[in-house]
Amino acid sequence: MDTVANNRSAAEADGKDTTLIYRQSRWTRLTHWIWAFSLFFMLLSGLQIFNARPQLYIGKQSGFEFNNTILQIGAENTANGPRGFTEIFGHRFDTTGVLGWSGLPGQETPRAFPAWATIPSYYDLGTARVVHFFFAWILTTTLLVWLIASLVNGHIRRDLAPRVSDLRKLPRDIVDHAKLKFHHTREYNTLQKMAYGGVLFVLLPLMIVTGLAMSPSMDSVLPWLNEILGGRQTARTIHFTVMVLLVLFFIVHILMILAAGPINELRSIITGWYRTDPPAKHDQSTERSA
Ligand code: HEM
Repeated sequence: MDTVANNRSAAEADGKDTTLIYRQSRWTRLTHWIWAFSLFFMLLSGLQIFNARPQLYIGKQSGFEFNNTILQIGAENTANGPRGFTEIFGHRFDTTGVLGWSGLPGQETPRAFPAWATIPSYYDLGTARVVHFFFAWILTTTLLVWLIASLVNGHIRRDLAPRVSDLRKLPRDIVDHAKLKFHHTREYNTLQKMAYGGVLFVLLPLMIVTGLAMSPSMDSVLPWLNEILGGRQTARTIHFTVMVLLVLFFIVHILMILAAGPINELRSIITGWYRTDPPAKHDQSTERSA
């Protein structure tokens, strides 16, 4: 059955002392790839939407008369020609070539995020919004499917819910990760539980809620949503910050997969089967006969 961890010995097959277990259910695998695909399109279309107004504010209002800009990406004329800049909390950085001023040599234009990072690559707010909202609904539906399936098949309780023993293992886990020492077991380690739980229960829901709060049509359906998030401009800033955190998660996620053994990790998230570490010498007989 899908949710049961069927152990089977692979030792006979390749002469190695390792075991393949069924680790990821078909619901985990299917939803994982749908949200990974959706987030890719949402990120690139979102950056195009951001380019239409490359400033972030805190508070309910925005405009020349307010001093509440916390991030700004733009271009300016200098003695050395046009330069791109990024300003965060009043600190200005020269980001020419990537943020603010970018393009092929001799064809640079003022744009917050460069053409290679946006969908479409040329300026087209309408298309970007269509793509963004289309994948937003796919992502929301996929997360709901993941939640229901993972409650029913016990994935949340068994694999993601942190236990007291996980907290005890945390310092050791941090040291092991720092040394790139990975244990290939059926269970997620403490840092994985925290990272995956953080993405699935905090970042993605916050992304959806702040996205809804930005939509004027939500004013009549959920008028309080905008209010509790501190206004539409603050919701937009939170939305952008969550995007940055998801991108950071993604980079670390991929680095960890590469470090832990990409073939084994990819097999588990594509087929479900995962090769665990050889059992400790004293319990080899039990593992082999499982
Ligand atoms: C936006 C992109 C992505 C996000 C948000 C994401 C997020 C996640 C989350 C939350 C889990 C845990 C799922 C669960 O247990 O229900 C997971 C597992 C996993 N993801 Fe991703 N992922 C992304 C992209 C990718 C990509 C591109 C790859 C492969 C190159 C990948 C490979 C894996 C693997 C191998 C696992 C299982 C890890 C393990 O069993 O130790 N992910 N991912």
